[in-house]
Amino acid sequence: MRRSRRALWLAAVAPAPAVISRSIAALLASLALCTQPRADEIRKGEYLARAADCIGCHTSNPSRPFAGGYRVPTPFGDVYSTNITPDLDTGIGRYSADEFVRAVQKGVRRDGANLYPAMPYDSFAAMSREDVLAIRAYLLAQPPIFQPRPANILPFPFNQRWTLVLWKLANLHSGGFAPDRSRTAAWTRGAYLVEVLGHCGACHTPRNATFGMDENRAFAGGNAGIWRAFNITSDKIAGVGGWSDEELFRFLKTGAVPGKAYASGPMAETVMNSLQHLSDDDIHAMAAYLRDVPAQSGDEKQPRFSWGNTLGVADSAGSNGAAQGSGAAAGGDLYRSLCSGCHGTNGGGSADGSAPSLTHNTSPGAAMPDNVVMTILEGVKAGDVAGRKSMAAFGGWLDDGQVAILANYVTAHFGNPDARVTAADVRLMRAGTSTGRTVMILAGQALAACGAVLLLALLTLLAKRLRSAHVRP
Ligand code: HEC
Ligand code: HEC
Ligand code: HEC
Repeated sequence: MRRSRRALWLAAVAPAPAVISRSIAALLASLALCTQPRADEIRKGEYLARAADCIGCHTSNPSRPFAGGYRVPTPFGDVYSTNITPDLDTGIGRYSADEFVRAVQKGVRRDGANLYPAMPYDSFAAMSREDVLAIRAYLLAQPPIFQPRPANILPFPFNQRWTLVLWKLANLHSGGFAPDRSRTAAWTRGAYLVEVLGHCGACHTPRNATFGMDENRAFAGGNAGIWRAFNITSDKIAGVGGWSDEELFRFLKTGAVPGKAYASGPMAETVMNSLQHLSDDDIHAMAAYLRDVPAQSGDEKQPRFSWGNTLGVADSAGSNGAAQGSGAAAGGDLYRSLCSGCHGTNGGGSADGSAPSLTHNTSPGAAMPDNVVMTILEGVKAGDVAGRKSMAAFGGWLDDGQVAILANYVTAHFGNPDARVTAADVRLMRAGTSTGRTVMILAGQALAACGAVLLLALLTLLAKRLRSAHVRP
């Protein structure tokens, strides 16, 4: 009796086969609708993660993408990027959407600790929430990798994360990206790509006394570890105002503009991991925006790219040797035995163009010899950028004195003769390429700087308080 009643009930609610197939179709359709935007969001997130170089900076071992461990050198020591794969215990698997947005825009970790600005959240602060969430969707679609956070190499007091509150008070500005309505769409897109996603200022803008980006001198030239990230304002001499649109485009897209500049060191990485993957429209937009960045003068008296054979090559070993002491002669010998095979005795580059000319090249033409020294020490990893070759590192073969002599030879003959370097300078720069020694050398300076930073941060805070007290009715 009971049984038949249940059967009756079932018969009443069981839909006819046609209804079933219709509802399955509807279900599938709505599933497709759900996954389609998700696939689109993931694709968008991948592109944004390229433009913001989350990929490059959070990967140290290419077979473990996003697992972190990439060294970011700072004036205070080394900070390592952390795991942003969806791993639950060591990655971002447990970050909620809000927590993730807070980490990227405000530099706050899931457990509430402050992140070091080696993660460029001062630039990312103006990223739209929608874009941050698209990046999150992309990251969550990656395979999780177990990789605990590496220990940073920071001396006291810089290993105290609470001190970053002061840094943030002075340097972190919240509030989204506010487009200037009088500008074209391309300019606005360029501004967002350069200022926010590309965080170009993290390297190219000089730091102020509290080690934040000096906004009054945006893009006037800064540091990336030991490397000099040149002035890229529209100034015709110190910046890139003398470059054509096409040259700027080509540099950003490929890192190589014969007769002008080649991207080495951190800029080669930026091109390799980020810029070469962006659409031509986006690169054009960035170039258009850079064209318009207010000019800032600098140390250079003539454009970096404008130097030809400064001293004339014929005398490289002879009369200049006499004029500049034995260093120049030794420099000529080193250059001819190690470098001229690729770069040519006259610095004009290899016949097939694979090794660049050192004349009319912004690195030897800069007022500071740092990038020439770093190129000799570390070589160039042009990586998988189309048509480019890499250059071996000579740091292991040459001592500090030899590197200095060689670098001085290169700048004196092919670039800016005012750029001089000593063996002692090279010792410091070389130390900057290896973690432990950098910190030993820098710790002393850093400790001294620290007192000043804390004081300045407190003063800034005080000034802000006073100002806001003033504004209130
Ligand atoms: C210039 C290098 C750099 C870039 C570019 C960068 N990060 Fe980071 N990121 C770091 C470093 C370094 C840390 C660790 C900082 C610390 O421990 O205080 C970090 C930490 C994080 C954390 C905190 C994870 C945790 O729990 O430790 C998240 C989330 C994060 N980054 C996401 C991103 C995203 C998303 C992007 C791209 C939009 C990005 N990062 C781009 C260097 C970078
Ligand atoms: C991680 C640090 C870093 C970041 C981020 C970075 N750059 Fe650079 N950039 C450098 C360094 C270092 C050089 C000098 C490279 C050399 O000497 O070969 C450079 C060189 C350049 C040059 C050539 C200047 C010259 O006179 O030779 C341009 C243009 C440039 N960068 C634009 C950009 C733009 C646009 C962005 C943002 C998308 C950017 N850079 C992001 C470090 C960086
Ligand atoms: C096997 C060939 C080869 C040798 C030998 C070689 N280089 Fe290079 N060099 C290259 C290539 C390739 C590049 C990078 C091209 C690029 O970035 O696309 C380069 C780049 C450079 C740059 C330009 C970096 C920039 O940012 O514009 C300098 C400076 C330089 N080399 C100096 C030297 C010196 C000094 C020596 C001798 C110690 C030397 N090179 C030996 C092939 C070589």
